[in-house]
Amino acid sequence: MSTPLAASWVQDPDTISILYLIAVSMFVYGLMGLRGPRTAVRGNRVAAVGMAIAVVATFLLEGMGNWALIAAGLVVGTVIGVPAARQVKMTAMPQMVALFNGVGGGAVALIAWAEFIETSGYEGLELTFVIPSLLAAIIGSISFWGSLIAFGKLQEVLPGRPIGAGTMQQPLNLLLLLVAAGAAVWIAAGGDAWWLMVLVLVAAALLGLFVVLPIGGADMPVVISLLNAFTGLSAAAMGLALSNSALIVAGMLVGASGTILTRLMADAMNRSIPSIVAGGFGGGGGAVAGAVGAGEHAGTVRSTSAADAAIQMAYAQQVVVVPGYGMAVAQAQHAVREMADELERRGIDVKYAIHPVAGRMPGHMNVLLAEADVPYEQLKEMDEINGEFPRTDVAIVIGANDVTNPAANTNPQSPIYGMPILNVNEARAVIVLKRSMNTGFAGIDNELYYDPKTAMLFGDAKGSVAEITSELAAL
Ligand code: TAP
Repeated sequence: MSTPLAASWVQDPDTISILYLIAVSMFVYGLMGLRGPRTAVRGNRVAAVGMAIAVVATFLLEGMGNWALIAAGLVVGTVIGVPAARQVKMTAMPQMVALFNGVGGGAVALIAWAEFIETSGYEGLELTFVIPSLLAAIIGSISFWGSLIAFGKLQEVLPGRPIGAGTMQQPLNLLLLLVAAGAAVWIAAGGDAWWLMVLVLVAAALLGLFVVLPIGGADMPVVISLLNAFTGLSAAAMGLALSNSALIVAGMLVGASGTILTRLMADAMNRSIPSIVAGGFGGGGGAVAGAVGAGEHAGTVRSTSAADAAIQMAYAQQVVVVPGYGMAVAQAQHAVREMADELERRGIDVKYAIHPVAGRMPGHMNVLLAEADVPYEQLKEMDEINGEFPRTDVAIVIGANDVTNPAANTNPQSPIYGMPILNVNEARAVIVLKRSMNTGFAGIDNELYYDPKTAMLFGDAKGSVAEITSELAAL
């Protein structure tokens, strides 16, 4: 049924194309802003406005209707999404990103299903519609269910350790892929039974679950960015099917940036993407809340006090701060900046060692330290800072664990063996700030703590750093 609006220029296909062009330009411009912490907020806003324009343009498309249902969807999404995004703690951001990403993939899979039902099994439709639509269904379903598992592991509602079927895992995954692809080919060849599409979606769903469940410990970052890329690709495929240019570009941007990030993360972890997906790495358990003890290590650790740590640092020429997830939990970044200011006032050179997967999301440490106005030039990437450790008088580790574990270099049995780490153990002295002898995300003991040149300062990182600063000021 045509509405009064239908006659107007607003619904002209050229107008909609122009609106889509404006929207995708804003996506690209917004994405460019995300390259640095200082421009990221603006970039995010620009891209969000671009998305709002794309949504409005889509509402203007001829044939749009069912406004009550659309409004209901908007209300549900807003009521759930806005408070969740506003209230989420910075430390819970990775699982929220995993969940929101999965929902995107799930939406794409549902659209593919709805199109299948609406067109009575793609009856009379060209393969140029059917093939991308089926691809979208498969990739979107994998992404949704895989992301749910990633969410569960990061939220610690599922164990972080690998859960798999051992040697049967890969044949099982291959079988599921073949079932999903086989049912899709059947549909493309003219099959229109409803259960064929259900088979595609369910086989892909199981594949998503079974690919992510066996991945554990330190390999989760790579998987999360891989799932991001999948969601983007599924959206782009659906955009192709629907000839929707905004969806194609937005999907490709997410797909391409997710793929680049996956490559970067895998390189940083010294892993190959196929071997991670095959579940060959990353053992160990997640950091279980309330877990106790020092694992199986028999060595002894030396503890220190804030006063002794301050004296040790006051006589240093170079101090390297090594931040990790614990700094994020303690929200210690401002206190760390104040401690560094105090050291610099004494003429001590302060640098920050940034590991690519420190924390729980890419760039986590950079974001926190930028928030505390730490000068960007002082942040040193792993390759740059590793050569500095032998010249460093004191390395102060603030809630970092896995990214400093020498077992990655020395113990072939370790689940993180081969992952490049910050060579903190090469510094002349090491002070580690954490609350207990608990393990980090990978669930494994850290040799560094038993090194005779390491001293442990137990307690919440924010409080410990503040104490060191006041001791320094009093010296
Ligand atoms: P972790 O190895 O997870 O260790 C963090 C340490 O912080 C824990 O051992 C914990 O010990 C300590 N901690 C927690 N709260 C604290 C507080 N309030 N004050 C002081 N210390 C506190 O962190 P990391 O070295 O940054 O390594 C990151 C790990 O997460 C890697 O395994 C990485 O693969 C994984 N991961 C990373 C990402 C991305 S993209 N960055 C995503 C998913 C997983 P206590 O409990 O004893 O205090």
